Amino acid sequence: MPGCCEPQGYDRVFDDREARRAARRYRRSGLTVLPRRTVELYRAGEVSGATLLEVGAGIGDFTVEMMRAGVDRATCVDLSGAYDHAAAELLTEAGLAARVQRVVGDLAAQPDAVEPVDIVALHSVVCCYPDARRLLTAAASRARRFLVVSFPRGWLRLWAPVSNIYPRLRGSDWRFVVHPRETILQAAADAGFEVQRIERLRVDEHVVLVRLDDTDPRRATTLDP
Ligand SMILES: C[S@@+](CC[C@H](N)C(=O)[O-])C[C@H]1O[C@@H](n2cnc3c(N)ncnc32)[C@H](O)[C@@H]1O
Repeated sequence: MPGCCEPQGYDRVFDDREARRAARRYRRSGLTVLPRRTVELYRAGEVSGATLLEVGAGIGDFTVEMMRAGVDRATCVDLSGAYDHAAAELLTEAGLAARVQRVVGDLAAQPDAVEPVDIVALHSVVCCYPDARRLLTAAASRARRFLVVSFPRGWLRLWAPVSNIYPRLRGSDWRFVVHPRETILQAAADAGFEVQRIERLRVDEHVVLVRLDDTDPRRATTLDP
């Protein structure tokens, strides 16, 4: 889903080397903290047969684990195509290649390019995009039931100028941005979601939101704190 106004050069930062590094780390020690937290929550609930959209999916390791937890079909979108090879290897190893679609592009620019699903997740993605409201609104428009988002806490703003030296040198539009949590939560609220669970970790927040007009009977028993 190519678009004329997307931020450019994400694949200069999220490149083959980064993809190989992420795949090695996942094979060695499994998911990182935030995606792992979501999978643990959903393991306790009922996601059997659900559909998933992972935005900013990287190598798609979170998607693999969500499918092991019961998700039936998934779409992974990322602005960088450099992950596709490593992601395809992981899906083949897990026997899931036929049930996962990968799309390269900017979900915020073209939300309609992907079908609505039950669960939309964005782990460490909002901080990689300049317009948090636009991205959250787009992601929420694809979520029939749950929206899961993790993002850095405010104090990490101090770190942004340092981490943005590298993308500048690489000629990439990518910047690390610590958006105000109010912007993120308000965008989700305006799109019809209410917070079901917030976990404040040392570095990040992990938030599960549920669509207010979700009439699925499983709602009452899924992801309750
Ligand atoms: C820091 S990485 C996180 C990858 C993975 N979610 C994880 O937790 O390991 C952020 C990813 O989000 C992607 N990204 C940022 N904004 C995006 C957008 N609007 N649409 C699709 N992908 C996006 C970037 O290309 C990058 O691969």
